[in-house]
Amino acid sequence: MFKYYSVEELSIMDAPKETGLRKVTSVASIPEMDDFDLTKLLDKPRLTIKRERSFDERSLSEMSISRGLDNLELTYSPGGRSGLDTPASSTRNSFEPHPMVAEAWESLRRSLVHFRGQPVGTIAAYDHASEEVLNYDQVFVRDFVPSALAFLMNGEPDIVKNFLLKTLQLQGWEKRVDKFRLGEGAMPASFKVLHDPERKTDTIVADFGESAIGRVAPVDSGFWWIILLRAYTKSTGDLTLAETPDCQKGMRLILTLCLSEGFDTFPTLLCADGCSMIDRRMGIYGYPIEIQALFFMALRCSLAMMKLDTEGKEFVERIMKRLHALSFHMRSYFWIDFQQLNDIYRYKTEEYSHTAVNKFNVIPDSIPDWVFDFMPTRGGYFVGNVSPARMDFRWFALGNCVAILSSLATPEQASAIMDLFEERWEELVGEMPIKICYPAIESHEWRIVTGCDPKNTRWSYHNGGTWPVLLWLLTAACIKTGRPQIARRAIELAESRLLKDGWPEYYDGKLGRYIGKQARKYQTWSIAGYLVAKMMLEDPSHLGMISLEDDRQLRPIIKRSSSF
Ligand code: GLC
Repeated sequence: MFKYYSVEELSIMDAPKETGLRKVTSVASIPEMDDFDLTKLLDKPRLTIKRERSFDERSLSEMSISRGLDNLELTYSPGGRSGLDTPASSTRNSFEPHPMVAEAWESLRRSLVHFRGQPVGTIAAYDHASEEVLNYDQVFVRDFVPSALAFLMNGEPDIVKNFLLKTLQLQGWEKRVDKFRLGEGAMPASFKVLHDPERKTDTIVADFGESAIGRVAPVDSGFWWIILLRAYTKSTGDLTLAETPDCQKGMRLILTLCLSEGFDTFPTLLCADGCSMIDRRMGIYGYPIEIQALFFMALRCSLAMMKLDTEGKEFVERIMKRLHALSFHMRSYFWIDFQQLNDIYRYKTEEYSHTAVNKFNVIPDSIPDWVFDFMPTRGGYFVGNVSPARMDFRWFALGNCVAILSSLATPEQASAIMDLFEERWEELVGEMPIKICYPAIESHEWRIVTGCDPKNTRWSYHNGGTWPVLLWLLTAACIKTGRPQIARRAIELAESRLLKDGWPEYYDGKLGRYIGKQARKYQTWSIAGYLVAKMMLEDPSHLGMISLEDDRQLRPIIKRSSSF
């Protein structure tokens, strides 16, 4: 059986043979890798670094071993609970579960999709009232994530394993848009199981972007797949799935798409509009925060699961270099708070050479008016996008929450993001959690940016609409930053309407008060997102599945900002 490596082992393997090295452990598990000290492998010579490690550093990695095991024990539920209809989370607790919980489980189970008798995913929406099905009868990779977490938290990992394996198979398909072939590693946005009752056969059709509106490949799917593989491993303690040659290869193929060298001058990932949850034109082309945060998280999850064979070792090196550059770039250039905004406001332009402060030549006149009012004295966030002469100051929920969970945000930045939620509750949460982005774009800007998209009118859908699914991400971020009361407040709002309204896909309006114009009902990820939020709040140890510890070595020293 393959051994997961520890920092020490890596140093030993890479270094010329020497004796007298102390081996801390021969088998390191995934949890300890979360606290993996990245710089140690980048800095050379490694042996010297190892010998010079301070006691503090050594005890950090040693401590993480026992903490990691603790975490595994907490979330590992031997035997699983497959087949049981009663959710574990409601029976485990002494207090009465909210009546919505049982209803939600029932609806979630109704959305299960089977392939040859095995559950392999959940359908996007089970809305029979809607005349247009479009592709909502498919299993979306991103939509399945909260369903998967709900099943894992409830001790039902089989469906998650089936899903991971099924999508891995789909990755192996040849993918084309017209005559153009997509990269081997691309994961589907969604797939559909076709049942032939006469022949009694099941077949699958998958969409890698070639059928999607706008024909964009889902960059987020591969990242979610990796993140889910780690969640499965962490929750079940079953290392064997991630270790299989197929899973290792799947991971490497996804990473190959993002780690290849080219003309890039930034470590961030260059994307087309509509390549993620916001899968229509919304001005997120370039370097959208959602993708950068997921990219960072997927890199860290891969690092924890990558085998150290010849191929894996090479990837580990590349991942670490990228993580280093990416965290520096994001924390330095995407971060904004009152102080930073004031600095940008006073930027000089047309600076040349290495001494430039305004590196991307952002013209202060391009700062939108709303951001001056929106920015509180206390709080901050990662902006939507940064590229030459362009800063998209919009706030995006998913990217900021994933930045907290992956520890792309430093602890100080993470609590500043939570401060912002408190300070701008009405704008970001209002009457229903939570806005996909803030603010909406309107009028002329809407025409230019969305191409007059009638579904993305102001404060609707992707354009400042409210998405209940994001509740699980907010709750996870709250727990991680020690602010569960914020999550409680949000969950209460959701409980006042979600079930009554039939679990809509999204809400519209400045306060998120109206059921979305074209929102599906019984949207599975709205249901699963609620369940995950509830279960995490009841048992915060679940957080470990989708959270990574802060890595001190990835922190740059940046002093210019007040909320640091
Ligand atoms: C919409 C959403 C997308 C989601 C899909 C299925 O297209 O924009 O994020 O995955 O519906 O629910």
